[in-house]
Amino acid sequence: MRGSSLLPLAALCSTCIADANPSLNMAVHESIASVPPGFTPAATAVFPSHELTLRIALAHTDMAGLHARTYAVSDPANALYGKHLTTEEVAEYVSPTPEALSAVSEWLSNNGIATKSISPAGDLLQISLAVSHAATLFDAEFRNYTHVETGRSAVRTLNYSLPATLRPHVRFVHPTVAFTMPLRKSGSGVSVVRSRKRVADVAASCATTMTPSCIQSMYSIPTTKSTSVNNILGVSGYLDEWVNSQDLRAFLTTNRPALINSTFNLQLVDGGQNLQSIFDAGDEANLDVQYSLSLATGVPVNFYSVGISTNDDVEGFIDVVNFILAADKRPTVFSTSYGFSESNMPINLAVAICDAYTQLAAVGISSLFASGDGGVSGMQSTTTCPQNQFNPTLPSTCPFVTSIGGTTGLPPAQVVAYNGSSGGFSNYFPTPDYQAQDVKAYVASMGGTYAGMYNATGRGFPDVAAHAADVQIHWRGNFETVTGTSCATPIFASIIALVNDRLIAAGKPVLGFLNPFLYSAAGRAAFTDVTEGNNPGCNTAGFSASKGWDPVTGLGTPDFGRLISAVGL
Ligand SMILES: *[C@@H]1O[C@H](CO)[C@@H](O)[C@H](O)[C@H]1NC(C)=O
Ligand SMILES: *[C@@H]1O[C@H](CO)[C@@H](O)[C@H](O)[C@H]1NC(C)=O
Ligand SMILES: *[C@@H]1O[C@H](CO)[C@@H](O)[C@H](O)[C@H]1NC(C)=O
Ligand SMILES: *[C@@H]1O[C@H](CO)[C@@H](O)[C@H](O)[C@H]1NC(C)=O
Ligand SMILES: *[C@@H]1O[C@H](CO)[C@@H](O)[C@H](O)[C@H]1NC(C)=O
Repeated sequence: MRGSSLLPLAALCSTCIADANPSLNMAVHESIASVPPGFTPAATAVFPSHELTLRIALAHTDMAGLHARTYAVSDPANALYGKHLTTEEVAEYVSPTPEALSAVSEWLSNNGIATKSISPAGDLLQISLAVSHAATLFDAEFRNYTHVETGRSAVRTLNYSLPATLRPHVRFVHPTVAFTMPLRKSGSGVSVVRSRKRVADVAASCATTMTPSCIQSMYSIPTTKSTSVNNILGVSGYLDEWVNSQDLRAFLTTNRPALINSTFNLQLVDGGQNLQSIFDAGDEANLDVQYSLSLATGVPVNFYSVGISTNDDVEGFIDVVNFILAADKRPTVFSTSYGFSESNMPINLAVAICDAYTQLAAVGISSLFASGDGGVSGMQSTTTCPQNQFNPTLPSTCPFVTSIGGTTGLPPAQVVAYNGSSGGFSNYFPTPDYQAQDVKAYVASMGGTYAGMYNATGRGFPDVAAHAADVQIHWRGNFETVTGTSCATPIFASIIALVNDRLIAAGKPVLGFLNPFLYSAAGRAAFTDVTEGNNPGCNTAGFSASKGWDPVTGLGTPDFGRLISAVGL
C-alpha cells in the first residue's frame, strides 16, 4: 500500500526509559463504566504473551478544512465544483501534525515498539505487542470477552491511559474500549428471509418479480453500452459474502443476454477471498454484482472482498477506503449494503468511519450505503430499542455519504415506502447545511410526536430511495427474490455510474459526493417524491413518507433522463 512505512526502532538509547510509564504523568484517555450488554467474560483467560495488534489514530492536521473543501468541490453552486482532490492533497489535511507523529513515535520507540503506518495519510499507526506489555504501556487491564450471539471473542479493556502530554495527539487506540457489534448486511435477518421465495426459471411480471428490465423501465435507465474506460463501479463485500460466477452467468443469460460474457474485477482487502463452490455464493454479494453489471451496462465493476484478518469489521470498513485511496484505478461510485447501529458504536469510531468516507468524497467518489431494513429500529427490525430511542444506522448518518432507502410498488400510482426502510436522525452527526431546511420542515411537521425518541438536530437519512422489494437474483443455482435496501443501493449506484459515464464522455468531472447536488433545486427535480408509507420499529409506526424530503424515502426515487438534464447534459 502506498504510504506504508516501517519506522525503525530507536538506534540510540540515550533517551530510552526502562519503564516509560512511572516517570510520565499518565491520564485516562477513554473509559467505559461496564461491559456493554451482549458481551460476557470469555471462559478462557488471555495469556500474557498473547500478541495484540492495536491501531493508534493520530490527531489530524485539519479535518475541518477537509470538510469545507469537500463541500466546496461537491456543491454545484461553488466555483470549485468538480475540482476533486488528489490523494496527496487529501493527505495534507488528514496527515497527523508533525508534533503528534514525533511525540507518539518517540514514546513508542522508547518502549521498544515498532510502528507501521497503515493509511496513505499516515494518520493510522499499527503496533503489535504482548498483552502484558500493552497492559503496562496503557495502564490497562486487557481481558478476553465473548460476543454472546456470534461466539466471537474480543480482547478488550474498560479503560486505558496515555501520558498526559500525548493525549491531544491521539484520537483513540483501537481495539480497546470499543465493544462493537458485528457488521450486518442490510438485507439479512427477518426482512430478507421472510420474503425470499423460489420463482420459476423465467422472467415473471414486474408486479411480483423485479428484474433488470423492470428497473430499467421504472427509472428510464438506458440499455446501451457505456463508453468511458475511466469509469469503475465499486461494490464492497463483507461477512464472507462471495460472488459466484456461475450464478452471475445464469442471471445474465436470462436477464441481459447481450452481457453474458461480462464479469467483475476482484479486489482483495484484509485477506478477503471469493471462493467459488456454489455453496459459497452469498445472496447479498450476488445481488450487488448481478445488478451492478446488468444495470450499469458496460461499466467495469470492481468487487472488493474485505476479509477479517483484522480485529473487527470496523477496521475492514476503514481499510477498504485506504486501499481505494492508494489504488491507481479507483471507482467513481462505491456501493455498500452493510452497516452498523449507531447505538453500538462509540462516537470516536463512528467519526473515524465518517472521516474515512469523507476522504473518498474529497477525491470525487460517491459513497452509497443502504439505509437498513429495520425501519426506525435500525439495521434489523426489533420492537424494543435501547433507552426507548430510535436507532440510526451507520455509515448512513455520516453527512459525507449518500444513504439509500427503499420503496415498493409499481409506478406511476403505487410507489410507496418499503416498510423496512431505515431512516431517522443521527445522535452523533449534526444536520448538515445541504438538508437543513428539509430536516427543519419535517421535524416541524411532526409536532410533538415521538418527542425524545429521535434527535431533531441530527443528520437526517436516507437521502434518496429506490426499489427494494421482490428483486430477482440467481443464488446457489436458483432464481430467488430478495427484499431490502440492499436491493435499492446497487440500483441507485448503477444509475450514478451511468451518469458519470455521460459526464466523462462530455469532458466534465464525475459527480463525486452527491448530496449538495441532490438537495439543490436542480437535483431534487430529478426525483419522484414518495409520499406514502412508513417505517415501523421500536413498537411504533415509525416515520411517515410525506411531501418533500422525509426520513423514510428521502427525496424520492431517481429518473435517469431527469438526472441527465439536472447535470446539464
Ligand atoms: C478468548 O476466549 C476464547 C473462548 O474461550 C478462546 O477461544 C480464545 O482463544 C481466547 N482468546 C485469547 C486471546 O486468549
Ligand atoms: C479502569 O478499569 C478497572 C477495571 O479493569 C477499574 O478497576 C478502574 O476503576 C477503572 N478506572 C477508571 C478510571 O475508570
Ligand atoms: C461470449 O463469448 C463467446 C466466446 O468467446 C462468444 O462466442 C460469444 O459471441 C460472446 N457473446 C456475447 C454476447 O458477447
Ligand atoms: C411490512 O410489509 C410486509 C409485506 O407487505 C408485511 O408482511 C409486514 O408485516 C410489514 N412489517 C411491518 C413491521 O409492518
Ligand atoms: C443530538 O445530536 C446532536 C448533534 O449531532 C448531539 O450533539 C446531541 O448529543 C444529540 N443528542 C442526543 C440525546 O443524543
